[in-house]
Amino acid sequence: MPFFAIDKNLCDQDGLCVKACPTQVIQMNKQNPYPAATQDYAAYCLACGHCVAVCPTGAFSMDQNSVDLCPPIQKELTLTPEQAEQFLRSRRSIRNFRKQPVERFKLEKLMEMACCAPSAKNSQPWHWTVVADPADVRRLAEMVVDWIRGITARFPEKAEISGFPRIVSAWDAGEERICRGAPHLLVVHGDKDYGFGAEDSALALSYLELFAPALGLGTCWGGYVYSAINAHAPLFKALGLPSDHRALGAMMVGYPKLRYLRLPNRNAPKVTWR
Ligand SMILES: Cc1cc2nc3c(=O)[nH]c(=O)nc-3n(C[C@H](O)[C@H](O)[C@H](O)COP(=O)(O)O)c2cc1C
Repeated sequence: MPFFAIDKNLCDQDGLCVKACPTQVIQMNKQNPYPAATQDYAAYCLACGHCVAVCPTGAFSMDQNSVDLCPPIQKELTLTPEQAEQFLRSRRSIRNFRKQPVERFKLEKLMEMACCAPSAKNSQPWHWTVVADPADVRRLAEMVVDWIRGITARFPEKAEISGFPRIVSAWDAGEERICRGAPHLLVVHGDKDYGFGAEDSALALSYLELFAPALGLGTCWGGYVYSAINAHAPLFKALGLPSDHRALGAMMVGYPKLRYLRLPNRNAPKVTWR
C-alpha cells in the first residue's frame, strides 16, 4: 500500500500537491490545514509522484518517491526548442550493427529509462527479457524465418503483401533482415489480459530508442520478431516467456555502423480543425 508523509516543518500549505494529484486522494481543509490522505487513498493513489514533484519545499514524500529519490529538475539541462527538435528528429532506426557487444550496464540503463515512460494509471506493466548472446539472437531470427515460411506456404497472397518472400529469399542468400545482425534483442512482455499493454510498451520502447544514442547505441524495432513471438509457439517457448504473458514489443540493440548526418523529412500532419 503506498504511504505518504508530510514534514510539517517544511510544508507551506500551498495546496499544490492537492491540485496536482490526478486521483484527488490528497485533501486539505480548515480543520486540517496540512495535506492528508482521503479514506480511499490506498485504493486510488497511482504512486505517480506528482505530489512530490510539485512540492517546492520538499515537504512531501511517498514511500517509493521520497524526496531523496527524486532529484530536482536542473533548469540548465532543459532543451531549447531547437535542441528538442534535433533530439527527436535525429533518432533513426539502425539496421547496421557492429559486432561489438553492448556493456550490461548500458542495457540496464536503457531499460531503466524505458520504465520512465508514461503508462495507463502508472501501472508500469513491463517485463523485459534480454537476449544477450548474439548467437541466440540469430537462432531466434531463424525461428522467425521458419514462421514466415509457414505463413507464406499457407497464405501466399497475405505473405506477398507483408513482403515475406523477400525476407525469406534474403535469408536464403545469407542476409539477416529479421534482427539485422544486432548483437542483442530486448523483448518487452506482460500480462496477456492487460488492456493497455501495447500502448504502454510502445511508449517504453520509444523512450528506450530515444535515449539509446546518448549511450552511443543504435536500436530498431523488431516488428517481425514481435509478431512472430505471439503467433509461433516454439519462439515464445524459446524465449521462456511466462505462459500468462504476451510479447508487447521487441527492440534490436547494438553499436551502429553508420552515422547519419541529416534530418529526413516526414509527411506534414494530417489535421482537421473544428
Ligand atoms: C511497430 C514498428 C515495427 C517496426 N518493425 C521493423 C522491423 O521489423 N524491421 C525494421 O528494419 N524496421 C522496423 N521498424 C522501423 C521502421 O521501419 C522505421 O521506424 C521507419 O522506416 C522510419 O525510420 P526511422 O525510424 O529511422 O525514422 C518498425 C517500426 C515500428 C514503429
